[in-house]
Amino acid sequence: MKAFIVLALCCSFFSSSAVPLAFEFSDCDDPHVFKAVDAALKKYNEDRATGNQFALYVVMEAKRTAGPDPQYYVKYRILESTCAAEENKHWQECHYKVSAEAKTGECTARIHMNDADKTTNISQECKIFSDVSKIRYTVAPCLGCFHHISSDGSEVSDILEKTIQNFNKNSGEPALFKLVEIKEAKRQVVAGWNYIIKYEIEETNCSKDQFQDLTPECKITSRG
Ligand SMILES: *[C@@H]1O[C@H](CO)[C@@H](O)[C@H](O)[C@H]1NC(C)=O
Ligand SMILES: *[C@@H]1O[C@H](CO)[C@@H](O)[C@H](O)[C@H]1NC(C)=O
Repeated sequence: MKAFIVLALCCSFFSSSAVPLAFEFSDCDDPHVFKAVDAALKKYNEDRATGNQFALYVVMEAKRTAGPDPQYYVKYRILESTCAAEENKHWQECHYKVSAEAKTGECTARIHMNDADKTTNISQECKIFSDVSKIRYTVAPCLGCFHHISSDGSEVSDILEKTIQNFNKNSGEPALFKLVEIKEAKRQVVAGWNYIIKYEIEETNCSKDQFQDLTPECKITSRG
């Protein structure tokens, strides 16, 4: 029996066609929510002529309307970055300003993105606080840091499914391999989400000659 421990470095899946469900509340980690917040924050930064740009700190709340052409209602926190407004950089390329004078803010925005005519209507209000200590952070803020995420969410399993499929397609092994255990899952907020997932796979009794892909009948070959 063969086993591998594999590290998946994975990019965000904005291009995948995960269709959001018609629920009123949206997961703050939903890529569509991220896209909406990104659009709103970009607009906020564009509208600022002076000072520093703000970078996303956290999405606190997200709702969307049901139906095909959704509007998003989001509440998010921003933190001053080291990029000057006139640099015209995208906020994801900026670093958080680490200083007691760093400004922070909270925005509520309504975003309507129309994919058909590529227009985005945004109305939002941001409250800026100049005293960061007024907002209590549980973790030191850090754009670009990896944070641990739950390994049993669909976010991780969707990625692993694709990754293992890819491993099986490209491995030089005669048998298909199957997930045994997720060791670690981390996510980074930068231009979408980057993932690091460490997982273990083992050989199954399905040979690549007979099977294109894993099926429920493929079992991990017994140990020992
Ligand atoms: C955006 O606002 C304009 C003017 O209010 C309106 O004509 C347009 O239909 C809106 N677009 C979307 C996608 O809501
Ligand atoms: C793999 O093993 C399982 C359980 O022993 C069995 O049900 C299944 O038919 C086997 N698959 C193949 C392709 O031999």
